[in-house]
Amino acid sequence: MDVFDCELRDGYSMPMLGLGTWQLRGARCTYIVKRAIELGYRLIDTADAYGNHEEIREALKGFDRSNLFITTKVRHGNLRYHDVIRDCNRSLREIGTEYVDLYLIHWPNEMIPIQETLTAFNELVDDGKIRSIGVSNFTIRHLTSALQTEEHPITNNQVRFHLYDYDQALLAFCKKQQIVVTAYSPLGRGRILHNPALLEMARRYHRTPAQICLRWCLQKGAAVIPKTSSEERLKENMDLFDWEIAAQDMLTLEASR
Ligand SMILES: NC(=O)c1ccc[n+]([C@@H]2O[C@H](COP(=O)([O-])OP(=O)(O)OC[C@H]3O[C@@H](n4cnc5c(N)ncnc54)[C@H](OP(=O)(O)O)[C@@H]3O)[C@@H](O)[C@H]2O)c1
Repeated sequence: MDVFDCELRDGYSMPMLGLGTWQLRGARCTYIVKRAIELGYRLIDTADAYGNHEEIREALKGFDRSNLFITTKVRHGNLRYHDVIRDCNRSLREIGTEYVDLYLIHWPNEMIPIQETLTAFNELVDDGKIRSIGVSNFTIRHLTSALQTEEHPITNNQVRFHLYDYDQALLAFCKKQQIVVTAYSPLGRGRILHNPALLEMARRYHRTPAQICLRWCLQKGAAVIPKTSSEERLKENMDLFDWEIAAQDMLTLEASR
């Protein structure tokens, strides 16, 4: 099953499905990331704050790095120029890679000028340590400020986004700016999967509620990074690309919010 890619503003492309790794630690993390790649996942989403870079380094061993798309994030307390450069270099050592495909500002921090942080990000692009620049948890106001001084393009905004909680205005703004939205917690951390409308739709499509949720995000134009620690669910969560939800059913789902 091939995972579709989307094009980023800087010319690179990014898979529309990845594996989220928040709360995955230790041997289970290494095993699940390795199995995910064997099954066809190419995007692995981590962060300095998740404390699992080294487990991911173990999992990546033996795979062709050039086929993979690794995202990590710098902590929001470490957005000063020198902190960003230091943390990125440490993250690269921990992950055992010469570059990450996407480096995100994990959370905005209004105590530190965004221009200072982006200066470090731009330098990391110039030095070949990161390919694409992105942000996370940015509102329209944060993005507007960041876009004013961008040098290398801001390509991605990773935000909480699922059927029962998403920001339509932010999505429209990002689309207009050609910034890809990545949906985090696309399954609402597993808590939204028992909604009656979702269960009915899943039965009708012969899909699982999780697949309906993930496919709904894709059809809204967002990339998805569901996390699972189960091998079976890894397979389930990637079976998204050869079917679709009818337009009327997209509306019915939204009306069930
Ligand atoms: N940028 C940010 O600030 C930020 C914040 C939060 C998350 N994230 C990223 O987004 C990723 C995903 O978000 P998330 O981990 O918060 O939540 P999520 O992916 O919405 O949900 C994960 C939960 O759903 C369960 N699950 C997974 N697949 C399932 C399926 N097919 N059927 C039923 N349950 C299923 C998992 O349980 P099992 O593990 O038992 O399968 C887990 O409890 C994170 O791992 C992280 O990489 C980023």
